[in-house]
Amino acid sequence: MTALILRGQTPVKGQFCGGALIHPQWVLSAAHCVEDMSASSLDVLVGGYDLRSSSDGTRVSVSQIVIHPRFSTVKGALVNDVALLKLSQPLTGVPVLSLVDAVSQVAPGTPVKGMGWGTTSEGGRQSPILLEVDMNLVSLTEASEVYPGLSEVHLAAGVPGGGRDTCQGDSGGPLVVSDGRGGWRHAGTVSFGDGCGRDGTPGIYGNTINYRSWIQQQIGTSVSVATDDHGNTAAKATAVAWNAPTRGILETTTDQDWFRLEASGSGTVNLSSSGTNDVQGTLVNTSGKILAQDNNGAGASNFLILTNVAAGTYYLKVTGTGSSKGAYTVLAKWTAAPVVTGAPEIGLVGLDSTPITDGALIAKTADGTDFGEVDLSNGSRSTSFSVRNTGKATLTLGAVRLSGSGAAQFRVTTQVPSTVAAGRSAAFQITYDPTTVGRHQASVSLSNNDADESPYDFVIVGFGTSPTDDVGNTPATATRVAVPSTTPARLDVAQDQDVFRFVLSQAATVSLTSTGSLDTRGTLWDAVGQTVAEDDDLGVGTNFRIRRKLLAGTYYIMVRGSSGSETGAYGLQITQSF
Ligand code: ARG
Repeated sequence: MTALILRGQTPVKGQFCGGALIHPQWVLSAAHCVEDMSASSLDVLVGGYDLRSSSDGTRVSVSQIVIHPRFSTVKGALVNDVALLKLSQPLTGVPVLSLVDAVSQVAPGTPVKGMGWGTTSEGGRQSPILLEVDMNLVSLTEASEVYPGLSEVHLAAGVPGGGRDTCQGDSGGPLVVSDGRGGWRHAGTVSFGDGCGRDGTPGIYGNTINYRSWIQQQIGTSVSVATDDHGNTAAKATAVAWNAPTRGILETTTDQDWFRLEASGSGTVNLSSSGTNDVQGTLVNTSGKILAQDNNGAGASNFLILTNVAAGTYYLKVTGTGSSKGAYTVLAKWTAAPVVTGAPEIGLVGLDSTPITDGALIAKTADGTDFGEVDLSNGSRSTSFSVRNTGKATLTLGAVRLSGSGAAQFRVTTQVPSTVAAGRSAAFQITYDPTTVGRHQASVSLSNNDADESPYDFVIVGFGTSPTDDVGNTPATATRVAVPSTTPARLDVAQDQDVFRFVLSQAATVSLTSTGSLDTRGTLWDAVGQTVAEDDDLGVGTNFRIRRKLLAGTYYIMVRGSSGSETGAYGLQITQSF
C-alpha cells in the first residue's frame, strides 16, 4: 500500500490519494488522482502506516505519470480511471502486490478488502493511520441501478445495508482479493461512489483484470503513452512547417504535444488552434522560457498567439485545458520582418544644418555652398559641412576632394575622418580665399561606402571682388536702383559683375538696357535667382536690351562684360510702361 503525497508537504497534510506497489518501480493508482499533475509535484510513500510518524515508510519521488489513454467519463461514471506512476528509483526488498489473473477471481460476492487514509465517513475527516475495510463484490447488474455508466471495466463493492465503504481520499488505493494461499491480489482501484457507505450504493473500482496487458506494456517498455502522436518534450517535438496545418490528438487530459518551429530571421509568428477540443498553446524558446501563452484567443476552445521573434528555434506546446483532450489542429503562420540591412547611409548638411543633396548643381547662400563675395585683398570665408551616417553600419570615407575650374580658389581646411560610426556625424571645412576677381566654381566630392551615394558631390561657388568695385557682384550684395532710373557704373576688373536690384510695386513692361560703348551682357533674375532673360547685343551697338512683362516683385539685373574680360564704364537704364 502506498500514499500519494504532495511534494513539499508532510504526509499527514499532503496525502491526497492511495496507490499500490505492483512492481519495484511502479505504483498503480487512479487517473483522476494525478491527471493534472506533473511527476515532480508528488511523492509516493511506500510502506507507511501512521502518516504522522516520520519514521513510517519510505518517501520516493516519481519520474513519470502514465494516465490510461482512454480515461473518460460516461454517464457520470469514470471509465478507465487508472494510472501508473513510475518511481524515480526501483525499490529493493519491498514486497509488491500481484494482480488478479482470472475473471473468476472477481466474481460477484467475492470477499474483498479496501484500504486507505481517506475519510472515515461521508464528509468526515481523513484518518492519519491506514485503515482497512472488508466488503464483497456486488454484481454490475445490481450496481448499474445506481450507476448507469458502468461496464465490465468496473467492479462494485459494498455490504448489505451499507456502512462499509472506501471514501474520499482512498482513491487510487487497491481493492484486494485473497490469493487463497495467505496472500493478496490487486483486484480494483478505488475510483468513485455516490456518497460513502450508503445503503444499496456500492463503491466503484477500476477492474484490474482489464488493465493487465496495458500495465504490462507500460512497465515492459517504460514508454509514456503507447499511442501518443506528438512528443511530450521539446527534445521529442514534431517539426512543423510554416503555414501548413498540423493535426494532433491529446490522448489524455495530461498529454502535451510539442511542435518545433524554425524562424529563419526576425518576424511575426501567428499560432492558432482550430477544432472543438479546448486546447491551450504555449510558445517556448530553446532555454525553456515561456514567451507567450494563450487559451481562448481564437475563440472559446482555441488559442491564438501573435508575437514577434528573432531568428531561432521555438517550441509550441499544446495542452488541454481542464479535463479536455482529443483532436485539434494547429496552424503556425510566419511573416518575415522587413529586412534591416546593416548598411551605412550618408547624408550631408551645410550652414545652419541645411541639407545638401548629393549631386546638387546649384550653390545656395542658405546652405553655405555659395560663399558669396570675398575681397581679394581682405580675408577669406569658411563653411563647415557635416557628414551624417543615418545607417546601421560604419560609414567609410575617402578624403574631400575639390575639382573644376575654380578649385584652386578653395581649400579643404579640415578633412573628414576615415570612418563615421552608425548614427554619428563628422565635420569638414572648406575655405574660399580667392586670388582673382570673378566667379569661382568647384565641385566637392567625397567618396564613401554608401551603396548609392558615392561619391557624394555638390557644387560650391564664390565671388572674388576687388577693393575698388563699385557695385555688388551677387544678389546678396546688389545695389538697389529705382524704376525708372539710369545708373552710371563700371566693370572695374576682368570678370567683374555688377548686380542691381529693383522692385516693382505692380505689374509692368520693363525695359533694361546699357548705355555707352562698353560691350556688355545683361541677365535678368527673379527674386529667387532664376534667370528670366539674358541678352548681349539687342540694344544699340554692343549694348544689351531686355524687354519683359513682369509681375510685381523683386528682380535683379546682372551686368557683365560680353566676353567676361571687358572693363570700363557703362550706364544701366531701366524704364517701365503699363
Ligand atoms: N473519488 C474519491 C477519491 O478521490 C473516492 C470515492 C470512493 N467512494 C466510495 N463511495 N467508495 O478519494
